[in-house]
Amino acid sequence: MTKAGFMRKKIIAGNWKMYKTPAEAVALVDGLKKALGGQTAVDAVVCPPFVSLTEVSRVLAGSGIALGAQNLFWEAEGAFTGEISGPMIKAAGAEYVIIGHSERRQFFGETNATVNRRLKAAFSYGLKPIVCVGENLAEREAGKTFDVVKDHVTGSLAGLGKEDMNTVVIAYEPVWAIGTGKTATAAQAQEVHKFIRGIVAKLFDQATADALRIQYGGSVKPENAAELMSQPDIDGALVGGASLKADSFAAIIKNIA
Ligand code: PGA
Repeated sequence: MTKAGFMRKKIIAGNWKMYKTPAEAVALVDGLKKALGGQTAVDAVVCPPFVSLTEVSRVLAGSGIALGAQNLFWEAEGAFTGEISGPMIKAAGAEYVIIGHSERRQFFGETNATVNRRLKAAFSYGLKPIVCVGENLAEREAGKTFDVVKDHVTGSLAGLGKEDMNTVVIAYEPVWAIGTGKTATAAQAQEVHKFIRGIVAKLFDQATADALRIQYGGSVKPENAAELMSQPDIDGALVGGASLKADSFAAIIKNIA
């Protein structure tokens, strides 16, 4: 409970990245459904590759586990070979969409401006965005963590209204902790999460900031999830590697529920 009286429900999302064929995806969510047994204490989301969305959505029906995509293009349709739109993702059964993951920023030219366009598209098609921000190792070592995070948050959220913020989740993912086994300490993560909440309070208002869910991402595992999630401003996790096995993803959820 925050001082404003908000109770933020934890949200744990699995970012499968470019792993799992459709058949493997179905097997994984089948296992996850069994392992989680309809728990509702935590919002659980899985984000498989686009080609598995429809089938995974069918398997997840009635399970209480939500579905997300890993990216979207901002146009609804058109001559954009290789792109996938918000309406397509929505029709495939997804409720969430990850936007601006550091791998997209690093390998696919994603910038704050393109993140912002995707974000606005997500709203217009009724998708709930999980917006990723975070510094890389060189930036952290140069003492620029807060500048980079502030730039990502303000640039990504530019022009949004308070009502848009009701559906936004921000994921703080220090790039040096992604897939490296090097987790930020709970104190390091908390410091940045609190900073992000402060920026959102300035950009919008305190109530919006208090209601915002901020996930931590970067080598989250069953063994470290509970400590991270016990921090006052950490409201969930975006999990890569450990979301690819039903038992480890379920253990993360159980350990914090
Ligand atoms: P990781 O990935 O859990 O494998 O570090 C997290 C992410 O990139 O979202």
